Amino acid sequence: MYDYREPWKIKVSSAVNAILNDAGIDGVIEPDQVIAENPPNPEMGDIGFPMFAYAKLLRKGPPQIAQMTAEKLAKIIVEEKSGAKVQAQGPYLNVSLDRALEAKAVLSQKFSAEKILAGKKIMVEFSSPNTNKPLHLGHLRNDVLGESVSRILSACGADVRKVCIINDRGIHICKSMLAYAEHGQGKTPQSEGVKSDRFVGDWYVCFSRELKAEVDELVKSGVNKDDAETQAPLMKKAQELLRKWEAGDGETIELWKKMNSWAIDGMKETYKRTGVSFDKYYFESETYMLGKDEVLKGLEKGIFFRQEDGAVAVDLSGEKLDKKILLRSDGTSIYITQDFGTAINRHKDWPFDKMIYVVGSEQQYHFKVLFILLEKLGFEWAKNLYHLSYGMVNLPEGKMKSREGTVVDADDLIDSLRDMALAEIREKEREGEVGDPQKVAEKIAIAALHYFLLQPSPVKDMLFDPNESLSFNGNTGPYLQYMGARISSMLRKAGEEGAEKDIAPKEADFSLLVSDSEWDLIKSLAAYSSAVREAAENLDPSQITAYLYELSKAFSRFYHDCPILNAGDPALSKARLELSRAVMFVLKDAFHLICIPFLEVM
Ligand code: ARG
Repeated sequence: MYDYREPWKIKVSSAVNAILNDAGIDGVIEPDQVIAENPPNPEMGDIGFPMFAYAKLLRKGPPQIAQMTAEKLAKIIVEEKSGAKVQAQGPYLNVSLDRALEAKAVLSQKFSAEKILAGKKIMVEFSSPNTNKPLHLGHLRNDVLGESVSRILSACGADVRKVCIINDRGIHICKSMLAYAEHGQGKTPQSEGVKSDRFVGDWYVCFSRELKAEVDELVKSGVNKDDAETQAPLMKKAQELLRKWEAGDGETIELWKKMNSWAIDGMKETYKRTGVSFDKYYFESETYMLGKDEVLKGLEKGIFFRQEDGAVAVDLSGEKLDKKILLRSDGTSIYITQDFGTAINRHKDWPFDKMIYVVGSEQQYHFKVLFILLEKLGFEWAKNLYHLSYGMVNLPEGKMKSREGTVVDADDLIDSLRDMALAEIREKEREGEVGDPQKVAEKIAIAALHYFLLQPSPVKDMLFDPNESLSFNGNTGPYLQYMGARISSMLRKAGEEGAEKDIAPKEADFSLLVSDSEWDLIKSLAAYSSAVREAAENLDPSQITAYLYELSKAFSRFYHDCPILNAGDPALSKARLELSRAVMFVLKDAFHLICIPFLEVM
């Protein structure tokens, strides 16, 4: 995509090279090495080139170099017959562009990311739930981060495969199974009219409640807390159930299958609702045995050792990490065990150039250990594994606490956002205009949620504020949707077909768009592909949300300053309308990258 800075980097590099040449100094500055900045204020020009980096090579002060470069460039400009101006200002060389010329160049193109990742196979793992509870707010951040990063990488040309590991076995699963086995009386999600993953989660809550009562009882009788937790009869029963499961006991497996499919079916409904999807699901129950084998192989090779109690462990003090258990003393596998098998299977299925794990920051240690051990086990590709770690999401005090009082279910949160959006539509008396108010409210809710969650950089912990996320004016998803809807409606009013489609700007006399606010908007459009590239390079969708906010501010100014449909001059109207269409095109493209639905009417 055309970026007005690029041709100037070439010009500046050749000017500096000419100066070097004149002075008989060996050395070449490549266009890529030229730093281009946005000058602090618009009067200084459109691009600022700091000259500090060339001082040593040229043995001159930056202001003098700026002066000399300006003289060289002035000649080129005259030859090119462009209306650009260059000016040395202290250590900077500032360039003011020919607006009419640039407007044409920017608006006569298709806006899209550069394919810098063409030919790369990138696997992205995200969401990765356990099957004992429904998805919660933390998963919503994970899901949108994983989905968005995947979309950004594919926009840059990568071949992306989205995967999910379902942690469907282990003690936590046995807990909800046990509670259901003891009190379920054959009830089903259908018989109770409850979403199926929540139905399973409710049994987990039931188990936790009963276990707590047992532990409290033991503590009262003088047992210390840790011991009470292992001694509690319910805990023992859950462990017994896990052993039965690992032994393949028929009845246990049947119950497990039933409850897991309830959990997974329910989660898939939530994924569908938020626009998240996977190319392949992996299941811990299918990979943990392979994981165990690998651990035992490592034991044979002497990479791991067996402790006195029979557990297999590894000593990572050489890597400045602790000792880590890899298999329990009773031979059952733990959380990390399956990850060996899962990674190996994935690489066999689809030999990736890179695999990204989108997982919370509390698991940094886990992934450090996993990557080191896979490398020790001899898997070359282990060096291409990356943990994209993200921070916690909290809710403001007193808001939407879940039944357990700690986390809030994803579905509940989206429901309340939708209801709030619906109330707003009603209050504004827009029900008649928007088509199906429920559907529109749902899309506003998703936009509010996703934009808010992607806005801080992934590593940061954050507070999700439902009211703020839904605000129609401010740096929010709904505000951006509103801007898109406004342009759609303008195109409809102008009798333009294609208000609904992604159409690049049509032919118009773009050289008319030279006022300050038109020019700012055009420059902002030109920066789209570099925003996407940066987001891909840093695996950080917040670069796109930040870009969209700048674009929206530039559009608002333009919309305020420049009448469009009644500009007086039909050619100017047309050019402004097409400029607006370009904004809509970029909005739609970027919305897709950050998982925000586009609305034609709002
Ligand atoms: N299910 C795990 C949890 O909820 C996260 C899994 C992360 N992925 C992995 N390959 N270990 O904590």
